[in-house]
Amino acid sequence: MDIERVDTRNSAAVWYELLRAAHPVDTPEDPPPCRDDAVGQLVHPRSDRESLLFAARAEGTPLGAYLLQRSLLENTDTACFELVVHPAHRRRGVGRALIEHLAGQAKALGCTRLVAEVEDPLGEDGPGSRFATALGFTPVLRERRRRLDLAAVDPGEHERLLAAARERSAGYTTVCWRDYAPEEHAADYAYLFGRLSADAPMDDLAWEPERYDIERIRTLERHILLRGFRSYAAAARHDATGRLVGVTRISLPGCHRHFAYQEETLVLPEHRGRRLGLRLKIENLLWARRHEPELRLIDTWNADSNDWMVAINERLGFRELRRSAEWEKRL
Ligand code: ACO
Repeated sequence: MDIERVDTRNSAAVWYELLRAAHPVDTPEDPPPCRDDAVGQLVHPRSDRESLLFAARAEGTPLGAYLLQRSLLENTDTACFELVVHPAHRRRGVGRALIEHLAGQAKALGCTRLVAEVEDPLGEDGPGSRFATALGFTPVLRERRRRLDLAAVDPGEHERLLAAARERSAGYTTVCWRDYAPEEHAADYAYLFGRLSADAPMDDLAWEPERYDIERIRTLERHILLRGFRSYAAAARHDATGRLVGVTRISLPGCHRHFAYQEETLVLPEHRGRRLGLRLKIENLLWARRHEPELRLIDTWNADSNDWMVAINERLGFRELRRSAEWEKRL
């Protein structure tokens, strides 16, 4: 077995092929991965990150791969990664060999820790957790993935929740957009986006807050589009000041019409307690569905310790699908 760097401009499809092979074995209840997303993130890497793809091969056949990503702006000591071994080649030491190789690459970049997300069934630990434990990782942030099935939600319930939330949040106007924030709100959106990494619970994961300005948020918006996603956002404008004080975003992978991710949601501390989070989420769902009439399933992740966000999601009808966690290994 050889482990070699993949030239992502020409051979990024190997990553997609591995994800596609793993999907029916690991997460058959999820829609399949999209090629544009898997390949797009490699062919159009973010300029604020370093991305390295390494694949293990035997006689030219890909056995597994890891994608190492390191931010160039903050948390530069951290090598975030994804790792997948082809289901036909598991339990033969490929994963272990890839982690050892990854540790060497990370150290060469000056990193002092590895961080990755692993998902498990709701009950017992799955292969990812067992593997991570065997390789000396520890879970530092416990999360849960929840799924909203719009077909199972009484449409009147969302209307009632929205009416009550609007009443409690008078003095704010909702601003919606697709893909790119309107120019006049780009600076506020960038600030809110960065604020999320400071405000969301991180438990035992030490995380330096990320700072976004207009240029960085525009780069990110472009990157998301290049990966094939369609994004819908709703923000709360505080009428008294004209500033955006909260935002939420839904994104649909390019190859799906019925499936989306509920992405980041944030309300600034001084504007909390007025049901703005709930209001924005429902208004954004309505906004997205105007353009995406087939949308039915929406997945989201929350830290188990994020009581407020979890409560909002449960009220909207999100139900637990899997456990997940961020795992860390000090080098
Ligand atoms: N059940 C129990 N223990 C396991 C399992 C499992 N299914 N898989 C691996 N392990 C443990 C064992 O201790 C194993 O040693 P052993 O075989 O001598 O008992 C040790 O991990 C090393 O196993 P490898 O053979 O090197 O692992 P493999 O090549 O099968 O890859 C992986 C494991 C990456 C988890 C694979 O199942 C996979 O691709 N899963 C889907 C993606 C995923 O979960 N990625 C998360 C990786 S963990 C992380 O990123 C921190």
